[in-house]
Amino acid sequence: MKIGIDKIGFATSDLYLDMADLAYARHEDPNKYLIGIGQSKMAVIRPTQDVVTMAAAAAKKIISQADKEKISYVIFATESGIDNSKGAAIYLADLLGLLPRIRTIELKQACYGATAALQLAKGYIALNPETEVLVIGADNARYGINTPGEPTQGGGAIAMIISSKPKILELEHETAAYAEDIMDFWRPLGHSKALVDGKYSAGVYLDFLKNVWDEQLQKTGYQPQDYGALLFHLPYTKMGLKGLRQILQNASIEDSSRLLREFEYARQFNREVGNLYTGSLYLSFLSLIVNSPNIKSGERIGFFSYGSGAQAEFFSGILQTDYQKGLAGVDYQAILNKRQAVSVAEYEELFENHVFDVENIELDYQEDKSNFILAGVQDYRRKYLSR
Ligand code: HMG
Repeated sequence: MKIGIDKIGFATSDLYLDMADLAYARHEDPNKYLIGIGQSKMAVIRPTQDVVTMAAAAAKKIISQADKEKISYVIFATESGIDNSKGAAIYLADLLGLLPRIRTIELKQACYGATAALQLAKGYIALNPETEVLVIGADNARYGINTPGEPTQGGGAIAMIISSKPKILELEHETAAYAEDIMDFWRPLGHSKALVDGKYSAGVYLDFLKNVWDEQLQKTGYQPQDYGALLFHLPYTKMGLKGLRQILQNASIEDSSRLLREFEYARQFNREVGNLYTGSLYLSFLSLIVNSPNIKSGERIGFFSYGSGAQAEFFSGILQTDYQKGLAGVDYQAILNKRQAVSVAEYEELFENHVFDVENIELDYQEDKSNFILAGVQDYRRKYLSR
């Protein structure tokens, strides 16, 4: 039996900040952000949007009535949760109109969360092949104004349907995982912005990559030549490029140039959105299958998932014949192109108005044209609108 990704959807804010504008405001050379970090634009999240509304928007793009009847489990991965007790998946299931006879959970391990959700879903489908699992990876990456992490912010949501009839990707069995207790990036309770040891985190990312790549190589014998593309968690796209270069150190010129070429397609959307933490690896997958004219069904795709703290996993899947159908006909480049630019001053205001630990607020959502809206908070209860 095959198990894997049947459909994939993505949603982000309708607002963005141009990285060159941010660079000028921070007295940096724009090329530091555009080339050194590898980001062109950064999603700016409105106060009327959060992980629940973005997840609902991503899922709505792919869920049919038939899916609604088959989904029996919603696994919502996020490190930008909106409540310490109530899981975001409950709100999501309600906004999407899913059947009540389902399981819903929220789970967290920094940017690794969506991979944990995917692997849990794989095991669940093995036991329940007639059902489907809705996996979400949604986050709002926040480091703070005028911090070194600022150009690596962003946000958005990935939604994936995992089933035993995967149109997009069949997950392969072997995976290599590695965990170690380190402090590279964390967000203590009560903080709305992440704390990070940036340079250290980049080094640990590469060490963990070496660890899981070597183990997967030992388990499977797969070399760079066995992959049609190698994908990475992209906190900023230069980080993935460093990871790829590390893997390619001893690869042939043909394999290196092919995998570097595919990486450019795989980072295209991430360059325009920024870090969406746990969804980033899967946005890169979406970017590859939407943008690459070269990638073919039957090819093996390698995935490096990394979540600070830290947990890593390397796994792979085989691209399926009908993979284009799993995109549900959505034109993501057109959606990204239609976004509205904000000035640095507007971004800073929106950033400061982020709704966090607020007892009562009514939000003005007139300008937010999204299908799903956070309309306010009453007695610490979030009020969502669907339209
Ligand atoms: P920084 O210290 O301001 O930047 O912040 P820098 O001085 O290291 O410069 C960045 C790059 O730009 C360097 O390239 C420079 O050479 C280059 P590199 O040496 O890295 O290849 N540069 C230029 N290039 C062209 N033209 C120029 C120019 N000037 C400089 N004129 C840092 C960088 C990444 C540390 C910061 O942005 C940060 O702290 N970011 C957040 C942490 C992060 O993303 N870490 C990544 C690994 S951890 C991870 O992935 C997990 C995470 O997603 C969280 C989770 O799991 O939930 C973060």
